[in-house]
Amino acid sequence: MKLTKARRDQYRKLAKQQGYRSRAAFKLLQLNKSYKIIKNSDKVVEFGCAPGGWIQVATQLVGPSGFVLGLDLKEINPLAGASFIKGSIDDPLLTQILLQTIGPNDKFDVVLSDMSPNVSGIWEIDHERQISLTRHALLVSIRILERRGNAIYKIFQGVSTRSFVNELAEHFALVKLSKPPASRQESSELYVICLGFKG
Ligand SMILES: C[S@@+](CC[C@H](N)C(=O)[O-])C[C@H]1O[C@@H](n2cnc3c(N)ncnc32)[C@H](O)[C@@H]1O
Repeated sequence: MKLTKARRDQYRKLAKQQGYRSRAAFKLLQLNKSYKIIKNSDKVVEFGCAPGGWIQVATQLVGPSGFVLGLDLKEINPLAGASFIKGSIDDPLLTQILLQTIGPNDKFDVVLSDMSPNVSGIWEIDHERQISLTRHALLVSIRILERRGNAIYKIFQGVSTRSFVNELAEHFALVKLSKPPASRQESSELYVICLGFKG
């Protein structure tokens, strides 16, 4: 068995043992351990949250005084301590809906984006589609994120990586690329850690 497959199976097994809905949960646990993105009492929103592994982790990290909201095209099974919206990141009304959900004069402390498009298998197309989804996430983030807030954006690596990371750097004090151990080595996904939203 190849090392990468062994590692994938290891995280799948761990997710089952620890009651996480997806092995993706370990990516957020590892990223948060390194970068302290989510804190107790934070208000967190995740774009592309199904089946809910990251939402489970976020709910644990914010504790009972925090707030966690997930968005996805797909329906997800309810999770204690979190709310969900079924919809698309490119819905023109989304920003308004999110701000209404969080309440008047309030914003989110953390934005998480783990969206993946339906993949065609043609890498250039999948890369551009994924970056386009994530650019929508950035546009929404700019309207809903608290000053000095943090974010994580998944990206598929490709020709537009550099320009998109530069765009992110205009809005955050610190931007770093990270590949957590739970992310498959053969997958070209990367996570952009964005700290200190400039507002
Ligand atoms: C890799 S999964 C997310 C896994 C999740 N973070 C977890 O921990 O379980 C990617 C998700 O992005 C969602 N997605 C794709 N396009 C989207 C869009 N336009 N708006 C919202 N979500 C979208 C998919 O439906 C899919 O559930």
